[in-house]
Amino acid sequence: MDASTKPIAAQLLGWYDSHHRSLPWRAPPGAPPPDPYRVWLSEVMLQQTTVAAVIPYFEKFTARWPTVEALAAAAEADVLAAWAGLGYYARARNLIACAKAVAARGGTFPGTEAELRELPGLGAYTAAAIAAIAFGQRSAVVDANVERVVTRLFAIATPLPAARPAIRAQVDLMTPAQRPGDFAQAMMDLGATICTARSPRCLLCPLADTCAGRRLGAEQFPIKLPKRAKPVRQGQAFWIEQAGAVWLVRRADKGMLGAMRALPDDAWSARGDGQSVPPLPGPWQPGGTVRHGFTHFDLEMQLMLYSGNDWARLDRNGGEWWPMARLDEAGLPTLFAKAARLAMAAKDQGE
Ligand code: ADE
Repeated sequence: MDASTKPIAAQLLGWYDSHHRSLPWRAPPGAPPPDPYRVWLSEVMLQQTTVAAVIPYFEKFTARWPTVEALAAAAEADVLAAWAGLGYYARARNLIACAKAVAARGGTFPGTEAELRELPGLGAYTAAAIAAIAFGQRSAVVDANVERVVTRLFAIATPLPAARPAIRAQVDLMTPAQRPGDFAQAMMDLGATICTARSPRCLLCPLADTCAGRRLGAEQFPIKLPKRAKPVRQGQAFWIEQAGAVWLVRRADKGMLGAMRALPDDAWSARGDGQSVPPLPGPWQPGGTVRHGFTHFDLEMQLMLYSGNDWARLDRNGGEWWPMARLDEAGLPTLFAKAARLAMAAKDQGE
C-alpha cells in the first residue's frame, strides 16, 4: 500500500467506529463478520435500491427464509411475490438460482471474489462486497456512493464511465488488509450521509483535509456526460373483473417482469404496429394512464376497463380469477399495482 494513502483508511475507520449506520445485515464495527447468507441477500437487494426501501424486505425475507437452504427450497412464486415492489425482478430470479447453487454445495458460500463471481447473478460489485464484508478479503468494493467519494477525494476529472478503471485502482490502493469489510461500508456510509450527491456536508467530513475535490467544489464530481433523454413507450393493460375478482395472468418467464403475476397487457406495443390485442373483444373503456420509469425507457400505460360480460371467452389456462380483497397478496410488480389502484379508484368513483 502506498504510504501516502494509508491514513485515509485509518481516518475513515475511526469515523465509522462512531458514525456507522446500524443496519440489520451488518456486524458492529470491528466485530466478526456477519452470516454470508445475510450479506449476500442484503447486497442483492441493495443493488439499485435504497437502504430505507430494502430494510423491511430484508427483515421479511430473513424471518421467512432464515438460511440459504430454506430460500433454495421455497416455491419460486412465493419468492417472486415476496420480492414484489423492490423492482428489477431479474434479481429475484437470480436470487433463487443462486440460493439453489449454494444449497447444492452444502449451503456454504465460497469465500473468494473469483469463486463468488461464478454464482448466478453475482457481478463484480456484489462479489467484491461479499468477499470483503462476509469473508474479510481485501477486495475493492466500488458502488455509486464510492465512485462519488473517490472522484471527489482525488478530483478525478475524467467523466464517468471512462473514469471507472482509475476509481477502482484508487479504491484498491486505499483498501486496508485489516477490516476491509468495515472500510467498504464506511465508504458507503460516508457517501450516503456526508459526501452526498447534492450539498455535501464537507464540514463534517473526516477526510476533508485530504480531499482535492473540496478545494475545487466537491459537487462537480463525479463528472458525467449529458444523459440522453429516455424514450417513452406506450402500452395498454386490461382490467377485467367479475364478482369481486380480477383476471390476472402470469407473465412469460423471459423478458421484463418475467414470471411475475400481472394484469393482461399488450406487450407494450411490441408488435410495433400500434395495434393492441385485448384478451376479450370488448366493450372497453379507458380508465386512465399509469406512468412508470424503467431503466431504459419510461412507460405510459393506458388502463382499459372491461364493461362486457363475456368472461367465458377468456382462455382458462392463461390466467386466474384473483379476489380483489386480497390483491395485495398477489405480488404484483409496482407498475401493475399502480394500475390496480387506478382501476379500484375509478370503480369507487363510478359507484
Ligand atoms: N449499499 C450496498 N451495500 C451496502 C451496505 N452493506 N451498507 C449500506 N449500504 C449499502
